[in-house]
Amino acid sequence: MYSLTRRPAETTGHQMYCFNSIPIPTTKQTQTNLTQVYSAAASFVPKLTTKVLSYLNANPDDTILDIGCGDGHLTHIIHHSLASPSRITGLDASPSMITSARKSYPSIPFLVQDCTNLADYISAHPTTTTTRGAYTKVFSNAAMHWILAAPDTRAAFFSNVHALLAPGGKFVFEMGGAGNVAEVHATAMAALRAHGVGLADARAASPWFFPSDVWMRNALAEAGFVVEKVETECRPTQLTQMNDEGSGGLEGWIKLMCADYIAVVDETKRADVVQWMMEVLEPVMKREDESWWIGYVRLRGVARKGI
Ligand SMILES: C[S@@+](CC[C@H](N)C(=O)[O-])C[C@H]1O[C@@H](n2cnc3c(N)ncnc32)[C@H](O)[C@@H]1O
Repeated sequence: MYSLTRRPAETTGHQMYCFNSIPIPTTKQTQTNLTQVYSAAASFVPKLTTKVLSYLNANPDDTILDIGCGDGHLTHIIHHSLASPSRITGLDASPSMITSARKSYPSIPFLVQDCTNLADYISAHPTTTTTRGAYTKVFSNAAMHWILAAPDTRAAFFSNVHALLAPGGKFVFEMGGAGNVAEVHATAMAALRAHGVGLADARAASPWFFPSDVWMRNALAEAGFVVEKVETECRPTQLTQMNDEGSGGLEGWIKLMCADYIAVVDETKRADVVQWMMEVLEPVMKREDESWWIGYVRLRGVARKGI
């Protein structure tokens, strides 16, 4: 199957997390494409966006950059509010996601870009609409907890977003916040410990950074933004059902989102790690009506570049 995995970012030398295709053990799943796997396990991600889209408030005159755009579904929704499709550009580090986005929405520009290193993007596009300061809005949904995972590229990320905005432009985002998927986070580390991985390695396997609202306000202010709002919302979310191909459900979510944890153990133990996690999580996540719920905590914000 396909998974969210970590690979070295050639340009920065840091670890980068994005959706790529690596084989990990499955029970009944056969080879299927990444966007199908993503859609089966996490189709609710682009759907639960009413609030962040209302904060974005896209209008025909906007020129928008969508950071970590994934399969482009949300980019496409936003483009309907703009004067033309070329007024939004989607960036994602995963070549498979970008290939799929281009195929689904050929009139929208989508580019493969590691957004831990937006300086690269700025210098590679000096004469187009992506010139420094050209965007009226920069948007990101459900991607910054991966992009901000490495501590030493966080400050540069915020100052590059600031540089990409036109004076008065807005940065509007939603991502995992402090306590996001805490039950899965803790279980993944425990599963590794139970399968012989040392504490430091189990902790280091986490591909995520889920900051508090206080941390986010400070990071935005340090990059020169005027912070309009940063809010946290606890949003328990019902997982999808497992489908006939073996994608979706908690198993699909773990294989897709926790691939970095699973990859730490030997290939022969990976199926067992997934099974172990599911057994531990069942009494916490499964409700009386057999539905499974995950403890999402969202961190949402709007920050403005001064005029
Ligand atoms: C959960 S998906 C969200 C996709 C889309 N924004 C949505 O709301 O449906 C997270 C995306 O972030 C991308 N991503 C992770 N790390 C990244 C990085 N360093 N630079 C750019 N994209 C990254 C992943 O490849 C993935 O497509």
